[in-house]
Amino acid sequence: MWSRNALSERLNLKWPILQAPMGSVASPALAAAVSNAGGLGGLGMWGLSAEDAERRIAGFRQLSGGALNVNYPLWPTPVKDADAERPMRQRAQELYAELKVSPSPDPETTAGKVDQRQLDMLLRMKPEVISFHFGLPEDDVIQALKAAGIFITSSATTVAEAKTLEAQGVDAVIAQGLEAGGHRGSFLGTDTSAQPGLFALLPQVVDAVSVPVIAAGGIADGRGIAAAFMLGASAVQMGTAFLRCEEANIPDAWRDRLGSATETATVVTPVLTGRPARVMRNRLVDRLGSDGLKPLPFPTQENIVEPLAALGDPEYMGLYAGQSVALTRPIPAGRLVELLAEEATARLKQW
Ligand SMILES: Cc1cc2nc3c(=O)[nH]c(=O)nc-3n(C[C@H](O)[C@H](O)[C@H](O)COP(=O)(O)O)c2cc1C
Repeated sequence: MWSRNALSERLNLKWPILQAPMGSVASPALAAAVSNAGGLGGLGMWGLSAEDAERRIAGFRQLSGGALNVNYPLWPTPVKDADAERPMRQRAQELYAELKVSPSPDPETTAGKVDQRQLDMLLRMKPEVISFHFGLPEDDVIQALKAAGIFITSSATTVAEAKTLEAQGVDAVIAQGLEAGGHRGSFLGTDTSAQPGLFALLPQVVDAVSVPVIAAGGIADGRGIAAAFMLGASAVQMGTAFLRCEEANIPDAWRDRLGSATETATVVTPVLTGRPARVMRNRLVDRLGSDGLKPLPFPTQENIVEPLAALGDPEYMGLYAGQSVALTRPIPAGRLVELLAEEATARLKQW
């Protein structure tokens, strides 16, 4: 059976299908529905305090006795540079004036990291899996989490990144292809225009590392899962496929756009946060991205976008999604996991 391997055994998963931990979009209800159906639910802890992160984990535990993946994007404290930021701020002012929006003062933005409070909380709450994006934290944090029996993983967008993660001690590598919705997990300065698609990246990562490989990017149905397993994956991580589930925490305007998107709807742009991310193209992306304007340092560019997103207009919000958006289905998350497993099983049986 395709679903039984070292990774699914270790994490006690019926189906090696991971719901991507998509920041605040991944609600405890979404993650619990996935884990209850035999997959692995994920919660994003993007910039949350240890207390808020603990509340999210507790919310999941109330709804599921299954395994949980919690996710920490990592970034250094952004360095302000008024001169470099001026053109982007001017462009934003033009948009605010046009749309009659009041700019909000910049909140203090610190580093995205696993500090001592987060570490203490994680060692107490013991999620089964912790995944990172944009690299890994310091070695002592990784060792402390691993000593507590927590499974560690992180995203790689190139073979070199996969090898680096393996050398730093991950239990599995997430091979993230160009098709993926959301931020590229790149951390070795990869040129986005050179990022490989999953079909090219996955077998090369499988050949390069000895830990299990989780395939991410563009997988939205059982055909994609079957293909990933044929290419050597031990599991898949899917984000976009879960965006239309009723448990996903997204505004209706974003949800509606997902339902009518095509395969050419998305682009990779840094204008939402300061780091390249795949989103559906809209006026916000076009206006902030024209003339090669430099975004503010990650993640402070978000402060520029937030007053516009508050309008609730899908032309001016960050509509994160991957290239397989048109394959997504508006069904409850538990049913989606069952359907994906049935489809992958049927597809692999045919061969
Ligand atoms: C809305 C959205 C938000 C995301 N947020 C995160 C995140 O916070 N952390 C993370 O590691 N990956 C995040 N990702 C990327 C996923 O982990 C994964 O690489 C991607 O969803 C796989 O491609 P797919 O969207 O085509 O399934 C996000 C993806 C989406 C679509």
